[in-house]
Amino acid sequence: MTPPLGIFRNKRVLVTGDTGFKGSWLAYWLHYLGANVHGFSHPPERDCDHFNVLGLARHIHHTDGEIRDYSQVREFMETTRPEFIFHLAAQPLVRKSFREPKLTMDTNIGGTVNVLEAVRFTPSVKVLVTITSDKCYRNKEWCWGYRESDELGGKDPYSASKAAAEIVYSAYQDSFFAGRPQFGAASVRAGNVIGGGDWSTDRIVPDCIRALQSGKPIVLRNPQATRPWQHVLEPLSGYLLLASRLYEDPAQFRGSYNFGPDSREIHTVEEVARALISVWGSGGIKIARNESDPPEAGLLHLNCDKAHHALGWYPRWNFAKTVERTAQWYKSVKEGTDAVALTRRQIIEYMESSP
Ligand SMILES: NC(=O)c1ccc[n+]([C@@H]2O[C@H](COP(=O)([O-])OP(=O)(O)OC[C@H]3O[C@@H](n4cnc5c(N)ncnc54)[C@H](O)[C@@H]3O)[C@@H](O)[C@H]2O)c1
Repeated sequence: MTPPLGIFRNKRVLVTGDTGFKGSWLAYWLHYLGANVHGFSHPPERDCDHFNVLGLARHIHHTDGEIRDYSQVREFMETTRPEFIFHLAAQPLVRKSFREPKLTMDTNIGGTVNVLEAVRFTPSVKVLVTITSDKCYRNKEWCWGYRESDELGGKDPYSASKAAAEIVYSAYQDSFFAGRPQFGAASVRAGNVIGGGDWSTDRIVPDCIRALQSGKPIVLRNPQATRPWQHVLEPLSGYLLLASRLYEDPAQFRGSYNFGPDSREIHTVEEVARALISVWGSGGIKIARNESDPPEAGLLHLNCDKAHHALGWYPRWNFAKTVERTAQWYKSVKEGTDAVALTRRQIIEYMESSP
């Protein structure tokens, strides 16, 4: 494996949220890169979850754990002594955050405090990447992309929890980590990630795939809403690249980074659904607005100039390829293709693609 990702070979890496959609792709990618991966999260929720279909428990060292419980987080870090940490464990659903605001805050803010606090007392840790969200920015309905220095804030509980997690990260950085030699921490902001193996509720791709698999029309509440869609491998490649840079030069690379698609790749929910139907080969759409639904945020997309210039990170897959590879994953696995081989093939294809 060539640098910079070759740096993960034989390194002890902790991924919180490894049973989730993004965490399972990241944990498998790190395993593929030769890392010694330790996962900490709730158990996977469904048999069909990416973690389960990959048989990830056989490839990495997974521990069922509660991120809201500091003693568990601390003990896990003391036992595993990781060099790299990617903190993804969270309650990530906006609609659920309206139903369960306290759980969302406790998990996303309290969980981040627990990870940062445990890192203070774990000298083995060289790099910490805290995953928040593009929703950490106060949404001013601007048509231009948000920069890392823009105001944080959130009207809904999920967005507020991620903005607060950013402030917590920043306070630990300034108060405890700035003077810690050979240690680099960063927060990363991405959004609207799609790819194979996500079965979460209230997300556009899993909702579409469930409808396509059962032969029912895809129900869209907000067909003209636009989002900056990107394949899951895009932000993960940014996290890995950033972590490798932090390992080499913590002082130069610490801070916050956006990872998002080119602004030309912003498309509507309906365009995603139609593109999925086209790869699937059948299916229809039904528009059903529900006035009692929580309000959806308007357009929010990221300015990624910092990641381009500081890290040399650029997106590699356009919208068409992103949706095609996503639909292909679900369709092929349904038709019996081995999920491990398919996930590995997509990772290799991504690594071999040019920006
Ligand atoms: N998927 C997206 O489009 C997207 C966009 C922006 C940001 N993010 C962020 O990326 C991260 C991963 O998101 P995802 O889409 O993979 O979510 P997911 O729901 O698929 O996974 C969440 C993970 O967190 C774990 N978890 C949740 N509560 C926990 C708790 N109390 N204790 C221990 N583990 C707990 C779950 O077990 C799971 O492993 C989250 O921080 C999310 O906010 C995701």
